Amino acid sequence: MLPQAPLQPLNLPWLAASGVSVAILRLDLIDPLISGNKWFKLSHHLAAAKETGAEGVISLGGAHSNHLHALASAGKRFGFSTVGLLRGHAVETPTVLDLQAFGMELHWLGYAGYRARHEADFWTPWRERYPQLYPIPEGGGGREGALGCAEIVQQARDQLSDIGWDDYDGWWLACGTGTTLAGLVLAEAENRSVYGAMAVPEGHGVAENVAAILGGDRDVRYELLDASRGGFAKVDAILLDFIATSESQSGVPLEPLYTGKAVLALQQAVEAGRFAQGTRLIFVHTGGLQGKRASNALCAAY
Ligand SMILES: Cc1ncc(COP(=O)(O)O)c(C=O)c1O
Repeated sequence: MLPQAPLQPLNLPWLAASGVSVAILRLDLIDPLISGNKWFKLSHHLAAAKETGAEGVISLGGAHSNHLHALASAGKRFGFSTVGLLRGHAVETPTVLDLQAFGMELHWLGYAGYRARHEADFWTPWRERYPQLYPIPEGGGGREGALGCAEIVQQARDQLSDIGWDDYDGWWLACGTGTTLAGLVLAEAENRSVYGAMAVPEGHGVAENVAAILGGDRDVRYELLDASRGGFAKVDAILLDFIATSESQSGVPLEPLYTGKAVLALQQAVEAGRFAQGTRLIFVHTGGLQGKRASNALCAAY
């Protein structure tokens, strides 16, 4: 059973001015450690690992990976072993220190070694070394990851009346691989749109990934927009200023890689007149606040 995320009205002056109503589904609040979309993305993978009798899981990510962070804390809490294959060379980020504290065994693959993760024989040596572990794709993605995210839709629907809504028109959320968006599309009905604010620029495979998960037979309208501001993890003064202002106006914490960029892209869309007055959107807060510790240090440079 996945923890229930609260659905709250998102109060921002530019929303009020445009007559567009947004409710925010606070996945960041479901758990202090297994936060955001991660628990949803992992749920089917972990169930599959259990079914195969695996003793634990092995997965991949970077030195700030929200995915590995959630996986390692789940392993510690629920008592299964975890191995992380990391991009690049050993560094001690706050995330990496947590991974170690949670008991995840780490292997640094270098950059070329990490790029090889899509090659056919990539997993062979790791399977030989850890036959008792179940491999989970990068970011908890794939169809299994998306199926877990379908539950996000139900969680929001169950709470519509609490905020005085009887219906809604669509979804807005940050996308990295597009897995979470694909999960919403799988669970949604035809008359609603799902808007994905991409944290990576066009051409990074999000559209292909979503299409592969959906299998090309969905009627639901979804749209991917470039919200990356020049590249994944690129931050600039306008973004940081916008995040600080939005946090104080709404009381909702945001981080600069995913959720901050997604809210900024929403503001641009709303101010461009993209949505008619009276439109009701659900914004999914996908978490990621643990990664803010490193970006805070980075942002101090601005
Ligand atoms: C905080 C946060 N939001 C959004 C995403 C994007 O999710 P997806 O890869 O399912 O598109 C991620 C990472 O994957 C994330 O860590």
